[in-house]
Amino acid sequence: MEAILPDTIAQWRARDGQGLRVRPIRPQDAGLIRWGLDQLSPESLYQRFFSRAPRVPDAVVKRLSEPIPGREYAILVVRRDGEEELPVAGGRFVTAEDGASCEFAVTVGEDWRRQGLGRRILALLIREARQRRIPQMEGYVLNDNVVMLGLVLSLGFRIEEPEPGDTFRRVRLDLRRHGWRRWIHR
Ligand SMILES: CC(C)(COP(=O)(O)OP(=O)(O)OC[C@H]1O[C@@H](n2cnc3c(N)ncnc32)[C@H](O)[C@@H]1OP(=O)(O)O)[C@@H](O)C(=O)NCCC(=O)NCCS
Repeated sequence: MEAILPDTIAQWRARDGQGLRVRPIRPQDAGLIRWGLDQLSPESLYQRFFSRAPRVPDAVVKRLSEPIPGREYAILVVRRDGEEELPVAGGRFVTAEDGASCEFAVTVGEDWRRQGLGRRILALLIREARQRRIPQMEGYVLNDNVVMLGLVLSLGFRIEEPEPGDTFRRVRLDLRRHGWRRWIHR
């Protein structure tokens, strides 16, 4: 049975003092996810999806808004805009069918970068994956995405050499390793 996720996972504060809420993604978030992705530059979309398509297809937006029950953990970081909530960042991991690993992805809106959101989201994903006793987390990062490579390295991930001809690298974190708290609560 799927655990019921709390409606608010965390409350954070942006650099300008604005309150941010971290909450699970629900199917009714498709519109918000579409809006958030439409704000991203072509380069950010490429770094996240490894595709030069100018717009994320509707089928992908639908897929992103419908986490796989029991296997996927997907969160949005939102800010209040009057009566509405608008997304500023998001992250997720999907567990492999054999349960031996999970694959993460993180995106922070361009106006919200360099204030620790990417690090906090990834730390939160790592904590959740450990609570679910998933042995390993992995992700795929473009060779020239130095910010993301630096971030995962600082959280204890190993960066694998790319396969010949690949433009991306696999990064892996052993979630059972001792001493992980030291990396996450920097
Ligand atoms: C990669 C990404 C998630 C980082 O988000 P962020 O919120 O800006 O990251 P943080 O503010 O947590 O910064 C993480 C670290 O990178 C460093 N950093 C961030 N942006 C940097 C930049 N432009 N140049 C150099 N260092 C940078 C920060 O100093 C920080 O290190 P520190 O904690 O030791 O100071 C964001 O740039 C992004 O969404 N990129 C597009 C999507 C993507 O690449 N996803 C990864 C593939 S899954």
